[in-house]
Amino acid sequence: MRIDVITVLPKLFDGPFSDSILKRAQEKHLVEIYLHNLRDYSNEKHKNVDDYQYGGGAGMVLRIEPIAACIEKLTSERSYDEIIYMTPDGKLLEQNLSNHLSTFQNLIILCGHYKGVDERVRELYITQEISIGSFVLSGGELAAAVLVDSVIRLIPGVLGNETSALTDSYQDGLLAPPVYTRPPEFKGLRVPEVLIKGNFKEIDAWREEEAIKRTQERRPDLFD
Ligand code: ADE
Repeated sequence: MRIDVITVLPKLFDGPFSDSILKRAQEKHLVEIYLHNLRDYSNEKHKNVDDYQYGGGAGMVLRIEPIAACIEKLTSERSYDEIIYMTPDGKLLEQNLSNHLSTFQNLIILCGHYKGVDERVRELYITQEISIGSFVLSGGELAAAVLVDSVIRLIPGVLGNETSALTDSYQDGLLAPPVYTRPPEFKGLRVPEVLIKGNFKEIDAWREEEAIKRTQERRPDLFD
């Protein structure tokens, strides 16, 4: 998979993309991530990419020309499955959307900033608008990092144990059951006996029961 991220703050991605699972996925050539600094596509003297909004009001808006130049350069080089815009008024990110996106070859992710992007960018170029939750971040970068992480870990070969993404919360519509490791007892709290005994059939049944219990308690809406 190839992911092109368009942003005014490429440095914000240094951390999340250069460690752990995302780093290994790139090293194994399972994913290529390219960061494009929107300022490089500005034709203004001071490399400005934003401007005041028509009609007045607080907050700057990202201009269409640099965004169009960047997107058109990329789409002239290869075809993209989706051109995604990170925005708090987009479709709420859920596991099934991450699963779907993980099957694609080429994605562009545009990060909004300030008051957002000129509406015509959305009309002309964007095929999918995604929000990571009902709250407002200072820009789309952290949201894009969340999206990229949730998608890349689902690409076959990225996680060491292929099956481990299958047992994540949400994958089967349930939250994941509790997990334990050594020691078998800590401050009087014991690891459930069924896990220690090691009968796989009983362990599977226990895990399913716990997953259902946990989902009923914490996310009853998932049963709807
Ligand atoms: N940009 C700002 N807030 C956001 C959110 N909640 N989701 C996606 N992009 C955003």
